[in-house]
Parts: sequence; structure tokens; C-alpha cells
Amino acid sequence: MARDINKDEFPEETKLKLEIFAECFREWLPVFLHNIHIQKIFIYDFFAGSGMDIEGNFGSPLILLNEAKGENCKYCNLLRSNGKQVCFGFNEKLKQKHDNLVRNVNSFINRCKSENCKLEKCIYSYDNFAQLEFKEIISQKRFNEVLNNRDYGKFILLDQYGFSQVDEDIFLRLVNAPKTDFIFFISSSFIKRFKEHPAIKQYFDTQNIPFDEAKPQECHRLIADYYQNLIPTSREYYLHHFTIKKGSNYWGLIFGSNHTLGMEKFLKVCWEKDKFSGESNCNIDNDYQKGTLFYTEEETNKKQMYRSILRDKILSGEIKDNITGLKYALKNRCLPELFTQVMKELENEKLISRTGKKNYSSTNIHKIQPYLINLLNYENN
Ligand SMILES: C[S@@+](CC[C@H](N)C(=O)[O-])C[C@H]1O[C@@H](n2cnc3c(N)ncnc32)[C@H](O)[C@@H]1O
Repeated sequence: MARDINKDEFPEETKLKLEIFAECFREWLPVFLHNIHIQKIFIYDFFAGSGMDIEGNFGSPLILLNEAKGENCKYCNLLRSNGKQVCFGFNEKLKQKHDNLVRNVNSFINRCKSENCKLEKCIYSYDNFAQLEFKEIISQKRFNEVLNNRDYGKFILLDQYGFSQVDEDIFLRLVNAPKTDFIFFISSSFIKRFKEHPAIKQYFDTQNIPFDEAKPQECHRLIADYYQNLIPTSREYYLHHFTIKKGSNYWGLIFGSNHTLGMEKFLKVCWEKDKFSGESNCNIDNDYQKGTLFYTEEETNKKQMYRSILRDKILSGEIKDNITGLKYALKNRCLPELFTQVMKELENEKLISRTGKKNYSSTNIHKIQPYLINLLNYENN
């Protein structure tokens, strides 16, 4: 049985995971609050725990509520003026933890109201609690109506113990849900260690995960690739991951979004945490560490590799326009500015020109003006 995460102080690695949840949600919420095509917002934390650790450090449900206020309560004020509804849904299967969760959430809200708006009723709907098995809640009609509603924005947090809750079916339901971003935790080392065990094989086709060919620190990256391969290649979808090493074990987060902006935001959070590869707390691509002679954050192994791939793809004519190039960087878990840097280099070398309005934008890809790339050498020959 998994050790109760809320009974001790959260270890550093758990704090890192919670920080990523917080920052990811901080980036996500304003996008959906300001989106005029979204009527209502639902934020679900289906493995909510009791709300805090023994020292009073916030767990995921209180982190979400705290982030939802925004700086100086700017989001509460915004909701008062635009009338958009934001509903939180919390689930925790264990009764005692569930009861503590309800108490902790209510006291958080009461304190928040007395310190901030002083209103009788919080602008957020936060009292939607359940004490169920996750798989039971996810098959409920009401939840599926929300999940599949195109007018509702959904943020779904799945901080499971272990690996078994986000199976292929649930993963694909989340991927196929409109206006839904999700992030889940998974114990990847465990899947690798017990890859031959029937208990693992019933959830993962481990034969198709090349653990033996990869370095130990890559096992969560392989799990992310495994999930990626469940998505039809014809589908435009963005998946990213973050590996968290604890002792000799590798856990990780997997984030999914069907919008470039969702992926841009998550990548930003990850690259802030890991300047080498934007995907781990353990120097996953063996870059030179700070304090060593060849240390660099600009020419890291991952950036060099994808710069070179992008260069080849542009010069071979496979990438013909900026939007395809920016999305290629995103799909390969690089910041889209990597593409723009390569474009500048190729222009300086007089290997390419552009047709279309010149811009060096790399953010908000969905709004960027497209341009075509012309190969100068090819034309001259
Ligand atoms: C990793 S902890 C979550 C911690 C929480 N996110 C936090 O920040 O404090 C996982 C929680 O999920 C609960 N849980 C385990 N299996 C569950 C299931 N099948 N359905 C719902 N909750 C479950 C556990 O009791 C535990 O509190």
C-alpha cells in the first residue's frame, strides 16, 4: 500500500511536483478566464488528498484555490464583472482524508474571504466534493457531460499513487475531450522495474517500451512516448512530460493539451525549471553542470540536436513555413523560439528568404502571421 503523502512533511520532490502543478495552473487559468468562447470553467482534482501536509504546506487542492485568486484577487474581481462561473471539483477516496479535505478547503475559503473580499459568498464554486473511486467518478454521466461540452474549459489534475488509474481508455477520453488540458503523475520506475509482471502488463504493453535500450533517467520519457503513441498521428495534439528523480527512482508528470497555447504555457514552466532540456530535475541529457568548464544553457545537448534537425528540415524543404516549424519545435518539447533562432541563422547565411510579412514571433502561435520559407541555394542552382 502506498504511504500516505499527507502524513509527513512533503519531500523536496513532492514540493517540485506541486510547484509545477501551481505554475501550470497559473498559466492556464487566465487564458480560459479571458476566452470569450468559454462559458464556464471546471477545475478537477480527482486525487486531492487532505489538502495539506503535517506542516501545513498546501497540497494540490489548496494550491489550486490559492492560485485562482490571482495577484491582489484580480481574477475574483474579473469574475464579478464578467459573470463567468468557475467550479472546483475535489475527490478523495479515503473517508478520513476526504473529511479533512472538506474542512481544510472550507477554512481556506473562510480565511481568504475575511482577508480579502469580505463577502459572504466566495465568487468561486468550490464545494463540489466527492468521496469516490476515481474510475467511478470518471464514468458518471454528469462528469462526461461537462468533459465533452465544447463551451466549457476544463483543467484536470490526476495526482494518482502509482500508475494504474490513467489507463489507455481514460487517457484517450481526456485527449479527445474538447477544451480540456490535463496533467497526471505516474511512477515510471515502477513500470520499468516490474515490466514483465501481469499487474503491469494489464495496463501497459511493456514489450513496446524500449527500456533496455535507454538510460535509467529516460524511463519516464519512454512512458510519455508510450502515451504519445496512443494518439493517432493524424491528430494535432501536444503532450509533454517532466521527470522527477527521487533517490534511484524516476517519477514524472505528463501534460496534455489540444491547443498550441496550452503546450507553450506548459513548456515555459518546464524550461524555467530545467534550462538544459525542459524536462527533468536530473540533467536527463547529460549536459555539463554549472561550475564546470563547458557549462552552457544556450548550447545544451537537446537544443543542439533540435537546432540541427530543424536546420535540415528547413533546408530540405520539409518545413516550408513558420507555423509548421514552430509546431515542430513544440511537438518535440522545445520552446518554439528555437525555430525562430534557426531561421535567423539561415537568413544570415543567405540560405533562405521569406514570402509574407516578416516577423520573429515565437509565442501565441495560433495568432502568428504565417510566412513561407524560400530556399535560396535551391533557386540559384
Ligand atoms: C498522491 S496522493 C494526492 C496528494 C494530493 N494531490 C496533495 O497534493 O496532497 C493520492 C491520493 O489519492 C487517493 N486515492 C488513491 N487511490 C484513489 C482512487 N482510486 N480514487 C480516488 N482517490 C484515490 C489517496 O488516498 C491519496 O490521498
